[in-house]
Amino acid sequence: MVRSVIKGCGSALPHRVMTNADMSKVVDTSDEWIVERTGIKARHIAGEGETTRTLGTEAARRALDHAGIAASEVDLLIVATATPDQTFPATATLIQADLGITKGAAFDVQAVCSGFVYGLGLADAMIKAGQSRCALVIGSETFSRILDWTDRTTCVLFGDGAGAVVLRGETVPDSPDSPGILVSRLRSDGRYHDKLYVDGGPSTTKTVGHLRMEGREVFKHAVVNIASVMEEAMAEAGVKAGAVDWFVPHQANRRILEGTARKLGIPEERIVMTLDRHGNTSAASIPLAFDVAVKDGRIRKGDLVLFEAMGGGFTWGAVLARY
Ligand code: COA
Repeated sequence: MVRSVIKGCGSALPHRVMTNADMSKVVDTSDEWIVERTGIKARHIAGEGETTRTLGTEAARRALDHAGIAASEVDLLIVATATPDQTFPATATLIQADLGITKGAAFDVQAVCSGFVYGLGLADAMIKAGQSRCALVIGSETFSRILDWTDRTTCVLFGDGAGAVVLRGETVPDSPDSPGILVSRLRSDGRYHDKLYVDGGPSTTKTVGHLRMEGREVFKHAVVNIASVMEEAMAEAGVKAGAVDWFVPHQANRRILEGTARKLGIPEERIVMTLDRHGNTSAASIPLAFDVAVKDGRIRKGDLVLFEAMGGGFTWGAVLARY
């Protein structure tokens, strides 16, 4: 059978690091409050010349290098982002040009913080349908540019960055032990579109707008939605939480991750957490965390990895893969 196998990963971060102490000079907040409520200690903030495109291109180049795959092999390039360089064309086409890729298709996916999981699910479906052989899935964001820097309830939570994985369709034995994506489950419920949103857009205000959020509402739904989609993905693959080597969640909030882990009986040491240094980087957070754990040797070839996310929309989803 054909499976979409993760061949390599890479990431990129803006140069500037903004600590909670730096943040307390911008809004009325404290390191203590932010760490206690979220687990975040610092985040990277894009400077001049650093954009969703440049960060995404750098992450993609590193992922191709890590995979030992030439850009010319890539025939599908998906960028998950809610902060594109321009309203159009898709940032994916800009990155495609930067990488010198002239074949296949490139497009953006908009599912906010769930974007990377959506991108993985889409790429997997296209590889299995024979429409792609080698895909780059990139999560890249510059949320600092859509934050209201006078609103302490939101601006302390987010950061900028990018991560990427290279997927290649490979024929493998039909076994859960074979490498590749086993299951992807994507969900959304638009009734909650006004709980986490941007108050502008090309067709309404003709502006980009700023991020707005009802934090408590998001929190309330997050644990329930994430736990249920993880359970669905594991049930479809016929595996129990105990068989999963690594959980690589969207890095929104330490308390959400701990709540989900408790609900599913996942030991904390099997959760990859990078939110302390990255903050919430939306669609970039999962591939960033994955890259950190692969490169520091925690996640190894053959490990069973569960990616999960929830974001504005609401959108949410989970992807189970053997690395
Ligand atoms: N620094 C200091 N105080 C702050 C603050 C900050 N950055 N932000 C809010 N506060 C204050 C509030 O004004 C409030 O003060 P009051 O009691 O005097 O009115 C108090 O802290 C509690 O605010 P509240 O919003 O009830 O806090 P909370 O415990 O719900 O925590 C979040 C707020 C945002 C951390 C929490 O709701 C959360 O994590 N939600 C999920 C957000 C998320 O992950 N979104 C992304 C999903 S992709």
